[in-house]
Amino acid sequence: MSGIHQDIEKILIDERTLKKRVCELADEIRRDAGQPEPLLVGVLKGSFIFMADLLRALDMYCEIDFMAVSSYGANTVNTGQVRILKDIGQSIENRDVILVEDILDSGETLGYIMRLMKARQPRSLKLCVMLDKPERRKVDITPDYVGFSIPNEFVVGYGLDYAERYRQLPYIGVLKPEIYK
Ligand code: IMP
Ligand code: MG
Repeated sequence: MSGIHQDIEKILIDERTLKKRVCELADEIRRDAGQPEPLLVGVLKGSFIFMADLLRALDMYCEIDFMAVSSYGANTVNTGQVRILKDIGQSIENRDVILVEDILDSGETLGYIMRLMKARQPRSLKLCVMLDKPERRKVDITPDYVGFSIPNEFVVGYGLDYAERYRQLPYIGVLKPEIYK
């Protein structure tokens, strides 16, 4: 192994399993009634790869937009502070909105974004997350679509970073402990 792969201790979810699950999620979204042409809102940066794969698997009319919020920085513990760095470029009033996020952890980030979105009066608002860490939840949020529930471990890859690195890994993995030092 060379390059960034050598920093990975173990692969939690491999590329094939991710791909298959993303297709299933797209089918679930398409089957759900009441969303003739949803607007998918991806939360940057972590969701960009998941969003791209989900969109390509979604055989229906839909639009996309992105918003960016502040992340942990080089820290693996959320500070509870959420900052909007980039907002979406349109009104969502009376739209069927699906928020697309990489991971639901404590729920502080998504709790904030969901409140903000709800105040803009969409017709419906759903939440689709690639990963869920239910053990870590501090804010009461139940996602409508979940790729995988995972244990309480810090993961990277498939859009997820540690200190802005490793987003391009095609799988979801756990870093070797020495990388955090
Ligand atoms: P929450 O506000 O605690 O739910 O945190 C959500 C955000 O924290 C996600 O959008 C990620 O950016 C980041 N995050 C949480 N857990 C992990 C992880 O295991 N790896 C990488 N980023 C994570
Ligand atoms: Mg994120």
